Amino acid sequence: MSRTVVGIDVGTTKICTMVAEVRDDGRVNILGVGLTTSKGLDKGVVVNIDDAVAAISTSVEKAERLSGYRIGTAYVGIAGRHISSLNSRGVVAISRADHEITLDDVTRAVESAQAVAIPTQREVIHVIPRAYIVDGHENIRDPVGMSGYRLEVETHIVTGEVMAIQNLIKSVERAGVQIDDLVLQPLASAEAVLSPEDKDRGVVLVDIGGGTTDVAIFIQGGIWHSVVLPLGGNHLTNDLVYVLHTPHNTAEYLKLRYGSAIATEPTEGDDDMIDTESFSPGEHQQISRSHLNQILQARCEQLVDLVGAEIRRSGYEGLLPAGIVLTGGSSQLPRMDELTRQMLDMPVRIGVPTQLAGLADSVDAPPYATGVGLVRWGVTRGLLHPNGAVTVREGGNWRAIYDRFKGWMREFLP
Ligand SMILES: Nc1ncnc2c1ncn2[C@@H]1O[C@H](COP(=O)(O)OP(=O)(O)OP(=O)(O)O)[C@@H](O)[C@H]1O
Ligand SMILES: [Mg+2]
Repeated sequence: MSRTVVGIDVGTTKICTMVAEVRDDGRVNILGVGLTTSKGLDKGVVVNIDDAVAAISTSVEKAERLSGYRIGTAYVGIAGRHISSLNSRGVVAISRADHEITLDDVTRAVESAQAVAIPTQREVIHVIPRAYIVDGHENIRDPVGMSGYRLEVETHIVTGEVMAIQNLIKSVERAGVQIDDLVLQPLASAEAVLSPEDKDRGVVLVDIGGGTTDVAIFIQGGIWHSVVLPLGGNHLTNDLVYVLHTPHNTAEYLKLRYGSAIATEPTEGDDDMIDTESFSPGEHQQISRSHLNQILQARCEQLVDLVGAEIRRSGYEGLLPAGIVLTGGSSQLPRMDELTRQMLDMPVRIGVPTQLAGLADSVDAPPYATGVGLVRWGVTRGLLHPNGAVTVREGGNWRAIYDRFKGWMREFLP
């Protein structure tokens, strides 16, 4: 059985719509990709709805033309500084006289984990059960059918600001697409580039995009920490604009053509100078390549520092033997992996979406991790939402949250 699923990665620099079907062997068969320059977003958040709608529409139409599929609904990525996450534990007593744990007990346990105070201007995006504890026995992934007196559940709860969420939903809906579900971007990227073994052992997913760097920490197969940092490749380009006094397009070109996250001194006989445009029309200037890369390195170091601080803040520093998987467009900056390895003293690799078929060539690269991941998310979770109906998004809408989380429950249970 195959199913067609659509993902829309509404990024700060690009919008990428992917139409795919997932085959029985688990490979994602890409039927169409619609890529366009993003408009109306800043650091992952919609700041101009009309511009965002126009860009999303273009991307959706392109993907429709290429795939021949009429897009009605899609899984949509969400990011931005407004996102925050917390871990919460729920506890219930087992209700049946014979003390056998049922799906209803699990549902009540997750509900009780959710009973943490969420401020009124925030909304729950995900409630992810991670592991269960039965009578003090930890790390149980499926408690249904077990016997016990007391069931506890560890959950990871992701929330965002109501207005930022609403503006994203509005932009997608006005582009003519209904939302199957919103998915935190690093969770989507993780679906595309992490193996189950990475997640079991302990790994940090770092998606360095244009406007944001998204971080997610997985241990024992579950998500323990997620955060969106408001820093990305656009900052690298802007630094070049300000320091070298070059127009933005030129700065982006210089970064892509000559950039490196680690600057090296020119060796003798090495042609270190680059002839490039300045802000004065028709005037050229000479720029030293090592100087260019010193500027980039300074910002990359700040970014890696922030990621390191986030890993320490999570408290899981010592539990991540699989190290760091970098993805997103800016992970392609040469030596970004090397700099990260040096600074954080952890194994580092670049994550590329795998197990693809169809138009795989166009999306098997780090910038498409979120798009491919959204499709994968849609397939694994979407099958669990057979009616496709998700969320009426109103702050603290318990019914909607409950329905969503029932979907989650089914995912975690046989
Ligand atoms: N080869 C490369 N070297 C360096 N930077 C690159 C390269 N290719 C792309 N980038 C940078 O990657 C960034 C875009 O990455 P990506 O497509 O992942 O962002 P996005 O998803 O649109 O943004 P975000 O996820 O932050 O909202 C841009 O800043 C771009 O300059
Ligand atoms: Mg992105």
